[in-house]
Amino acid sequence: MKLQQAEKPLEGEITVPGDKSISHRAVMFGSIADGTTEISHFLPGADCLSTINCFRKMGIQIDTDPDDPGHVVVHGRGLHGLSAPDSTLDCGNSGTTMRLISGILAGQEFPTELTGDDSICRRPMKRIIEPLHRMGACIESENNNGCAPLMIVGHRLHGVHYDTPVASAQVKSCILLAGLYADSPTVVTEPALSRDHTERMLKNFGADLESLDNSVRIRPDPHLEGTEIHVPGDISSAACFIAGAAIVPDSHIILRHVGINSTRDGILRVLQAMGGSVTCHNTESSGGEPYADLEIRYTPLHGTVIEGDLIPTLIDELPLIAVMACAAEGETVIRDAAELRVKESDRIDLMVSGLSAMGADITGTEDGMIIRGGHPLHSALIDTRHDHRAAMSFAVAALTSEGGAEINDADCVRISYPGFFEDLASLM
Ligand code: S3P
Repeated sequence: MKLQQAEKPLEGEITVPGDKSISHRAVMFGSIADGTTEISHFLPGADCLSTINCFRKMGIQIDTDPDDPGHVVVHGRGLHGLSAPDSTLDCGNSGTTMRLISGILAGQEFPTELTGDDSICRRPMKRIIEPLHRMGACIESENNNGCAPLMIVGHRLHGVHYDTPVASAQVKSCILLAGLYADSPTVVTEPALSRDHTERMLKNFGADLESLDNSVRIRPDPHLEGTEIHVPGDISSAACFIAGAAIVPDSHIILRHVGINSTRDGILRVLQAMGGSVTCHNTESSGGEPYADLEIRYTPLHGTVIEGDLIPTLIDELPLIAVMACAAEGETVIRDAAELRVKESDRIDLMVSGLSAMGADITGTEDGMIIRGGHPLHSALIDTRHDHRAAMSFAVAALTSEGGAEINDADCVRISYPGFFEDLASLM
């Protein structure tokens, strides 16, 4: 697909689709709660549809409406109400589906096999296998390579105190969900705080859970009760337009109802550190998740350093931040982000090769990237490696590239943002 260069400033308003992390959790927690969970502004992206399909296979009725794909009703059957699926659960491209479901399945009385696409079958699952083993779970990598396919045979679980080596919300959530089925409380401590949607939402369903600094403690066997969930706009999707308006001179855009949870808003802090302008209006909150309208006005950017505890708050936005850094004056250093190498693709390698092909001065390091901005970009043909966030990042890079750019497999954006190209075009 040909990606367009912007011929004028980005202007206009967009309501981005629902948050992917929150949409997954709403379906999962609704399924193991008693009664009905009604979700509005659900993200009907391929990843979240994988989650819906997995729970349908385990006997949960989930109503969706093709005319209103953001409206989903989950008819939960309680903590012990799932039934054995009659075939392998397919998580598609979705790490959140696979890692969170594993925590739930570890506590069931039936065996399950989990698999997904080529990308997910290369991603590390040892990070959940290890803590689940410690809790007494029976979970194995079928090819003994620490990756999916996984076989999980439900078992009696014990509470543990687990120190995660990586700050990962997927790992934390997996352990907390297994903790619902354990015989004593479970504590997870992270090296830095990762996104806390699980904690906020489980509390709303009635779970007994306390957070202190980077630790969360959960008590087993709560009564979870179905609830109403309004999903805020996904800041990771909004980030495409934030970055676009930050690099195309004279742009001015408004993004409505974007989630601004402080464990997710690192992109806003980095934009400000780079000299960019973002203002939050009309801040509200729903289900413990704050959201606001974001106004972004172009101002020239300069380089910055992005590292440490900030990294988990913007991990999915780093490809876009690399694009912003290409347009900034001076050097930007991203470090402590080795996790980027085990996302849907090796995002350090992919962004370095794609942006270099477009003329950027960018070097990959073991745990990040160094970008010397201010080099004009030009057209190139880029392989997205089926990575949705990389595809959208290259579309943003193309906005300031002489002659735009070209990518293969543009359709992979349906994983998290099915209407991305239409929304981008509406601002151009
Ligand atoms: C997610 C957590 C992050 C993020 C992913 C979604 C979640 O992954 O990159 O896109 O919904 O919990 P990690 O937990 O592996 O950091």
